[in-house]
Amino acid sequence: MKRFLIHITTAFGLIALASTTALSDGAATLRQGEPIASEAGAPKMNKVENNDIKRVRNYPEQPPTIPHQTRDYEISLNANKCMSCHARTRTGESQAPMVSITHYMDRDNQVLATVSPRRYFCNQCHVTQVTAPPLVENEFTDVEDIIKGE
Ligand code: HEC
Ligand code: HEC
Repeated sequence: MKRFLIHITTAFGLIALASTTALSDGAATLRQGEPIASEAGAPKMNKVENNDIKRVRNYPEQPPTIPHQTRDYEISLNANKCMSCHARTRTGESQAPMVSITHYMDRDNQVLATVSPRRYFCNQCHVTQVTAPPLVENEFTDVEDIIKGE
């Protein structure tokens, strides 16, 4: 039994040793090399773009990203700030694009008179654009380019 325990401890020791070596090899960790005992500073927050410049969608059904800031825009039981500009009846005044027909459809594809409950919480799908560099290298190829390549 004693011998068995010794084996176990050596095994754990080796694993620990292996993981420290891995860390010093510059493995990507959430702590970014910050020692366990100290706390890293919060990463810089990226700036929300507010320039009204739309970004190209990566595929036809992508929810478009938001080209304006949305800070303090309330979406609650009582109010939906987004719909005060994007609702069908408000677009003349706001010059915002109307939410598309899918936003008025229930799950059986029946078109409703007002925005569907499943599309009510806009920021569930739409996000503001930020000036952030990509976290990882991206090799995404647009379907347009794939078709051209054939
Ligand atoms: C004050 C009016 C106003 C409000 C409020 C508003 N928007 Fe907009 N939105 C616009 C206008 C105008 C555009 C057209 C582009 C531009 O001028 O920024 C736009 C563009 C967009 C687009 C891009 C559409 C596309 O085809 O690329 C999305 C997505 C969007 N808004 C979502 C939202 C969401 C979600 C909210 C609520 C959090 C919201 N908007 C609140 C006026 C508004
Ligand atoms: C469940 C996800 C989802 C929610 C919630 C949602 N959207 Fe969308 N939205 C999409 C998708 C997907 C598209 C693109 C395809 C389409 O039109 O259905 C889109 C398209 C749009 C467009 C562009 C329309 C066009 O014709 O170019 C606007 C503007 C927009 N949404 C605004 C809103 C607003 C405002 C809300 C909240 C009231 C909202 N969306 C809620 C998924 C969502």
